[in-house]
Amino acid sequence: MHTFEQLQKKAIEIIEKEAYSKAPVSLYEPVDYAIHQGGKRLRPLLTLLAADLFSADIEQAVKPAIAVEMLHNFTLVHDDIMDASPLRRGKPTIYQKYGTNKAILSGDVMYALSYEYLLECEKEKIPALTKTLTSVLIKVCEGQALDMDFEERTDVKKNEYITMISLKTGILLAGALKMGAIIAGAKGEDMNLLSEFGLYAGIAFQLQDDILDCWSDLSDFGKVVGTDIADNKKTILYLTAMEKADEEDRNTLSRLYFEKTLDLQQKIKDVKAIFEKYNVREDVQTMTKQYMDLALSSLEKISVEEERKENLKIFIDQLLNRKK
Ligand code: IPE
Ligand code: IPE
Ligand code: MG
Ligand code: MG
Ligand code: MG
Repeated sequence: MHTFEQLQKKAIEIIEKEAYSKAPVSLYEPVDYAIHQGGKRLRPLLTLLAADLFSADIEQAVKPAIAVEMLHNFTLVHDDIMDASPLRRGKPTIYQKYGTNKAILSGDVMYALSYEYLLECEKEKIPALTKTLTSVLIKVCEGQALDMDFEERTDVKKNEYITMISLKTGILLAGALKMGAIIAGAKGEDMNLLSEFGLYAGIAFQLQDDILDCWSDLSDFGKVVGTDIADNKKTILYLTAMEKADEEDRNTLSRLYFEKTLDLQQKIKDVKAIFEKYNVREDVQTMTKQYMDLALSSLEKISVEEERKENLKIFIDQLLNRKK
């Protein structure tokens, strides 16, 4: 069994050492930039944590871990185009630096590269790994579609939002863990419980991302604060405010999310004032904690010795205190 720090260090190292310096430069330089732009490397860490949980040789989990991080970065390259996000990890996003066309194509090749890493895994594991990565990606696309549909809709419900973030974010965390469990040859029931852990943790993670998008320092968060409000995202903050606000504030909020000609900085300020008036942040923090607890109760049911679960508990603890 490895310590949390050992696995965390390894998750960072295995990504950092990959280099994409082939020709054509116009295709691979943005890939190299995206992969070395930074990032917390949570998903490869989850793959390693899962393999280690079931006592596998973590070296066998390295390729699937890189595949998952590559897939994640691909989704971010395209997501930043969709969300018009100028900064990520404190640096210009790929489409800002290289232009939209190169960002689209480099994203496409990253998607293919993630499968190439899987093809380097132990032969008999490849079908199960491929099946997992494929179904994850289909669901992430479904989640992204809903996320964008919601920008235009005015009647989004909280349960629809939870479905959307399960798809766009939760499924990938679950999938990262499942890949490690596949490598370890874990039994079906345990694999499902671990995926469930990842799904709940992923939902909590996206709730936090919505909070951080509204209230954080650029120097910590690395993304431009207020982008969700500027994009009319029907985040949990917005949905909670719409539930709690009186009629006048609800109308103001609807108008702010509807009019296209507003001064964006003023809009962000006005929306935040309503969120703050109704203590929306505190409500969402409580919800985040509830989903983290659900994750921990799924972990409890997994049939491995208790001490082996410590690292995943540390993972949850670290998430609960994250600023980026
Ligand atoms: C960003 O994921 C996308 C979301 C699901 C909110 P991360 O916050 O894990 O991004 P990096 O990889 O650490 O930059
Ligand atoms: C990202 O959700 C989910 C995916 C990329 C699939 P967000 O749009 O909230 O992520 P950030 O805030 O840009 O990292
Ligand atoms: Mg998005
Ligand atoms: Mg985004
Ligand atoms: Mg976000």
